[in-house]
Amino acid sequence: MGRITVFLQHKMNQPKRYLITSALPYANGPKHIGHLAGAYLPADVYVRYLRAQQRDVVYVCGSDEHGAAITIQAMKEKTTPKEIVDKYHALLQSNMQDLGISFDIYHRTSSPIHHETAQEFFTALNEKGDLELKETEQYYDEEAKTFLADRYIIGTCPVCSNTNAFGDQCEKCGTSLSPEQLINPRSTLSGNPPSKKTTTHWYLPLNKHEDFLRKWILEEHQSDWKANVLGQCKSWLDNGLQPRAVTRDLDWGVPVPVKDAIGKVLYVWFDAPIGYISATKQWAIDHQKDWRPYWEDKETKLVHFIGKDNIVFHCIIFPVMLQLHGNILPENVPSNEFMNLEGDKMSTSRGWSIEMDEYIQDFVKKENGGDMLVDALRYYLIAIAPETKDSEFTWKGFQDSVNSELVAIFGNFVNRTFVLMHKLCNGKVPPLHNNLLDEKDNALLRDMASAKANVEANLEGYKFRDALFEVIDLARKGNKYMQEKEPWIVAKNIGADGMPTPEAQQKIDNCLHLCLQLTANLAILINPFLPFSAKKMCHMMKVVDKMLDWENAGKANLLKVGYSLRAPELLFRKIEDAEVTAQIEKLKNKSKHIMDTTPTPSTDASTTASTIKETIQFDDFAKIDLKTGTIVSAEKVEKADKLLKLEVDLGFETRTIVSGIALHFEPAAIIGQKVVVVTNLAPRKMRGIESNGMILMAENPDGKLHFINGDALVANGASVS
Ligand code: 2FM
Ligand code: ZN
Repeated sequence: MGRITVFLQHKMNQPKRYLITSALPYANGPKHIGHLAGAYLPADVYVRYLRAQQRDVVYVCGSDEHGAAITIQAMKEKTTPKEIVDKYHALLQSNMQDLGISFDIYHRTSSPIHHETAQEFFTALNEKGDLELKETEQYYDEEAKTFLADRYIIGTCPVCSNTNAFGDQCEKCGTSLSPEQLINPRSTLSGNPPSKKTTTHWYLPLNKHEDFLRKWILEEHQSDWKANVLGQCKSWLDNGLQPRAVTRDLDWGVPVPVKDAIGKVLYVWFDAPIGYISATKQWAIDHQKDWRPYWEDKETKLVHFIGKDNIVFHCIIFPVMLQLHGNILPENVPSNEFMNLEGDKMSTSRGWSIEMDEYIQDFVKKENGGDMLVDALRYYLIAIAPETKDSEFTWKGFQDSVNSELVAIFGNFVNRTFVLMHKLCNGKVPPLHNNLLDEKDNALLRDMASAKANVEANLEGYKFRDALFEVIDLARKGNKYMQEKEPWIVAKNIGADGMPTPEAQQKIDNCLHLCLQLTANLAILINPFLPFSAKKMCHMMKVVDKMLDWENAGKANLLKVGYSLRAPELLFRKIEDAEVTAQIEKLKNKSKHIMDTTPTPSTDASTTASTIKETIQFDDFAKIDLKTGTIVSAEKVEKADKLLKLEVDLGFETRTIVSGIALHFEPAAIIGQKVVVVTNLAPRKMRGIESNGMILMAENPDGKLHFINGDALVANGASVS
């Protein structure tokens, strides 16, 4: 079926209203640009496009403020969960706003309206008999006196052997897990292996809904959902669904609304998606609207934008909940794959990331008109969006994309058009002389019309990259047209008065008239992607934002003849080599610092051949100078929870070594400890102290660190080989 046919069909079946959601980010820290590219930017583009079409659309999001992600972060920062969510909710909200993500509401799941909504939802299902109450044995930490679910328990992933997989998910391979699947489980709280204890929880019997899910996903949405989404759903269904606990023994979350369910809260993945509903309710209150049709009327098109680690929750679990509760189901769940960074997986915890906030501070807030750098980032992230497979952000790629496409094609076309219009047409929109229209002019007019249809078809199909390329391609055609028409050369045909001859002027008029109409079209088409630039273009053209209405795209009469326009403004600027180098350096330093100041990741007895590093030659090993030594002094490093400053007697000298072991050892207890030291490691500064070497440690499956010390009779300074 051709694009145009699909598009026409779509127009006929246009939904009455849209409810668009982006995954609620955990308010447990800053989020990186991979998150932005996955769940927020594509949704924002889609929503801006729908708004430009005057459709009834509400775009909701908010902070996910419950669950172990929050409480564990609170422990790390030695504060309360409330402080954590307040701090990061504010940060995320402001970052999203700075990057032009145009939510209609950015809500939070700690709000009373959310608690009420989630409790009502649970009660409705429970009273209908859709939930099952079961007594089971669960992992328990005797020392911390806590049940261990989700991120409270870690162990080895049965799929990829990552030794630090969480009880609900392995962040390395993305597999969803249950604590029972972890090999060598240990408590995140004490590091101890867990015991088992009986507890009672409510379960959602997903197994009872397999037929509904198969029909709905694999039959009804077989042709319109993305292959990566369908693939994951099919694999879940083929493996058979299990009842899923929807409550937890915790004190942070939405309390289970059942008498005597003391110390129990709703599972974060039960309450968080209900956050989309509570956000809609709050939006409706704020705007005197009715929220119900958005969740109850089948003529609403519900679309969830998410990253791939959220597929099961949005395509299987939440739809079962919605179905049971009598709500509408999502029409589509356009999930993206992951975006890597400079050859490695993006990860905030490993420091291998570009946080949204970091980009804003380094680029947007640093200079006047930093908005153009928001659009530059938006442009590159959409151009490399991981729509069908993982993609990769590189700073060089960012530079190339911005400099050779945004600046050299789009910006250049608009700038040339304005400069020439001021120079050759008195700064006014010149008339169009129909009698002089030639094939090139007509081709440009056709290109304008077809670009609109192509962008539209791609956006309706969630193909944001292709849609953006269509817009750039139209600008490229504009440049080619201008290059072929050469109005600056035509202007050299002058008469006795020193001005271009009437015929020459008419040709110039036609070229610039069409280039200006094309500029107006480009503003409309680029607006969903690069809203700050579109606004700036409107300012230059002295038109109101209303001109950006989608129905105006494809028209060649948007700027009135004789209308005087402003001087051109710079839409984009080049990214300099020095900026690229500085960012790459910064990334490396950040990651090194985090890895140096974080205890070595654990290995365990299940270490397999796949976790052993690649073979090295003896010469490589011989480069490492290992010597025995004795710790002669140890003290905590100020404002660094994990660091100890050690003095180590190596026989021939005493060295200062900063080691990330403070959470494992009391300084006084390790004086006199025999150790093995890497003595020829390049010095490194940590918290202002120069560290001259590294102490070798081993980590047991229970997460405890041990010194590699060998025979106490070996003298300090002896070589180890
Ligand atoms: O993976 C996450 O970051 C979750 N906080 C997403 C929740 S999406 C929705 F269901 F709320
Ligand atoms: Zn894994």
